[in-house]
Amino acid sequence: MSNYHIKHLEEYYQVYRKSVRDPENFWEEVAEEHFLWRKKWDKVLSWDFTKPEVKWYEGAQLNITENCIDRHLTTRGEKTAIIFEPNNPDEEAEHITYRQLHERVCEFANVLKDQGVKKGDRVCIYLPMIPELAISLLACARIGAIHSVVFAGFSSTALSTRINDSDCKMVITSDGSYRGGKEIDLKGIVDEALHDCPGVKTVLVAKRINSDIAMKEGRDKWLQPLLDEAYRDCVPEIMDAEDPLFILYTSGSTGKPKGMLHTTAGYMVYTAYTFKNVFQYREKDVYWCTADIGWITGHSYIVYGPLANGATTVLFEGVPSYPDFGRFWEIIEKHKVNQFYTAPTAIRALAKESLDFVEKHDLSSIKVLGTVGEPINEEAWHWYNVNVGKKKSPIVDTWWQTETGGIMISPIPYATPTIPTYATLPLPGVQPALMDENGNEIKGNQVDGRLCIKFPWPAMARTIWGNHQRYKDTYFSAYENKYFTGDGALRDEVGYYRITGRVDDVIIVSGHNLGTAPIEDAINEHPAVAESAIVGFPHDIKGSALYGYVILKVTGESRDQNNLRKEINQIITEQIGPIAKLDKIQFTSGLPKTRSGKIMRRILRKIACNEMENLGDTSTLLNPEVVQEIIENKL
Ligand code: WTA
Repeated sequence: MSNYHIKHLEEYYQVYRKSVRDPENFWEEVAEEHFLWRKKWDKVLSWDFTKPEVKWYEGAQLNITENCIDRHLTTRGEKTAIIFEPNNPDEEAEHITYRQLHERVCEFANVLKDQGVKKGDRVCIYLPMIPELAISLLACARIGAIHSVVFAGFSSTALSTRINDSDCKMVITSDGSYRGGKEIDLKGIVDEALHDCPGVKTVLVAKRINSDIAMKEGRDKWLQPLLDEAYRDCVPEIMDAEDPLFILYTSGSTGKPKGMLHTTAGYMVYTAYTFKNVFQYREKDVYWCTADIGWITGHSYIVYGPLANGATTVLFEGVPSYPDFGRFWEIIEKHKVNQFYTAPTAIRALAKESLDFVEKHDLSSIKVLGTVGEPINEEAWHWYNVNVGKKKSPIVDTWWQTETGGIMISPIPYATPTIPTYATLPLPGVQPALMDENGNEIKGNQVDGRLCIKFPWPAMARTIWGNHQRYKDTYFSAYENKYFTGDGALRDEVGYYRITGRVDDVIIVSGHNLGTAPIEDAINEHPAVAESAIVGFPHDIKGSALYGYVILKVTGESRDQNNLRKEINQIITEQIGPIAKLDKIQFTSGLPKTRSGKIMRRILRKIACNEMENLGDTSTLLNPEVVQEIIENKL
């Protein structure tokens, strides 16, 4: 029996039971079946969640790009690896074969080497969704450099914080980017960020929008001429299984962003295995994930997972609304997409528009639909099922995290019966546990609690870059010997999981994780602001939107409040990026606090969500009177 392609529910249960009974043996079989190892492992797994320390496939040697590219050249050299669909539909799509990808990755890798990048160096990638983005990740991996991709919608401050946190010596960017009808001056943002980044010696600039930009002598270099000069072959650096592959930042509830570190072998095996099973990818299929490579979804399920399977993966530069709201459906028809993977927020936005946008396109190629990033509400699920899947394509609601590296809980199409809003069953090798407030595991079904994972899986992050203690405190301290996800979940009568949302101060807006603390810090930088607190409230399209409560330094401030609101959002945009802007800002004379001075966000959240009737006991607060004021002035 192959572990690699589960085809029906019985087989899922069989494989699952086996994976739990003997995880080492299970993951050894998966790794043996399909990859190119320069040297096999001595030990499949060693782990200790108290340190925490986890090692998979210790002793093995490999290069992930040989697995994602070279290995396919004999049988799939002329197969399309990447279909690049540009922002502007009038610009021709580009089909990059595995052979061409090999050449382009090798050239790029040689450029990196020529510029002095070595194994273990960190390279920051700040690029739009163009082929150079995927290629630059692979080029880093080819030579053993650690890539740190920063989503190109982040501001210069967010970029410089990330560059400095991991000491990147190079930044790869472009002159600019297209986003719908807009042109964005990416290089300008990089220039601004680099005022604060003395460690960056080189900036490689890809040409995308042909804008007239400033190039700093000695630091900035156009990419293309360097590629033109580079050799077309590059011997891959042989990496140890646990050598770092990349850093990717995610927001925490407090403090600066966490640079999650992923390593090589386990990440490769897990993303390849889950890609194949969750999307039921077959050799001739065309697969499309609409995420940006700046997020983990793009890393694992646009680049590494699909390419490790020799798949054809679509890379889309644009947005779902340009030139009109039919763009996704047009692309599915154009490239005959078989598996389509997107975010609930995009589905909700498109479901608001006329059905004509969907109906005028032939979507009959679709076999599997997926969602990721946040809970999907029933209405959106049905809309997706009826109008896109035509009730014949299973929807995989995939739950996972930047930290988990790959999909953890998800239906397997055509095997797991789906129910809207349920991520359903753990994938093989994944051992979830629900915990109660006292730290005990809640056994049995029809229960809910805090979601933990009690056994290692190959793609789990190994640490937070530069701060192992924080890694331990955040994920391994809440519950003994378990990885704590930060999410709540329920398990129904048949053992299906439904993720109920974050139980910490992370708010998910349009599928993006936002920590409350960094946003509050930004707000508090406004000279008129004394203190602030933000919470999430339900939003039709974004899932959650941000509600800010702000105390001004001078009460009864005569300044125009709307202007203040604009200025506050401007600061947030500069410090973090437009995704973190507040939808509502309420000025208040105080914030409800406990006697120890802690802001009671629970109360603020309920008010923002219009749940005034069950605020709970507020009499023990330091300042109970402020609650009434906040309710009266609610926006
Ligand atoms: C949430 C994205 C419900 C969850 C891959 C998690 C989900 C956080 C789902 C991680 C889902 C992700 N249903 N909630 N299918 N998928 N989440 O790190 O709260 O950007 O902890 O990784 O998104 O977000 P991240």
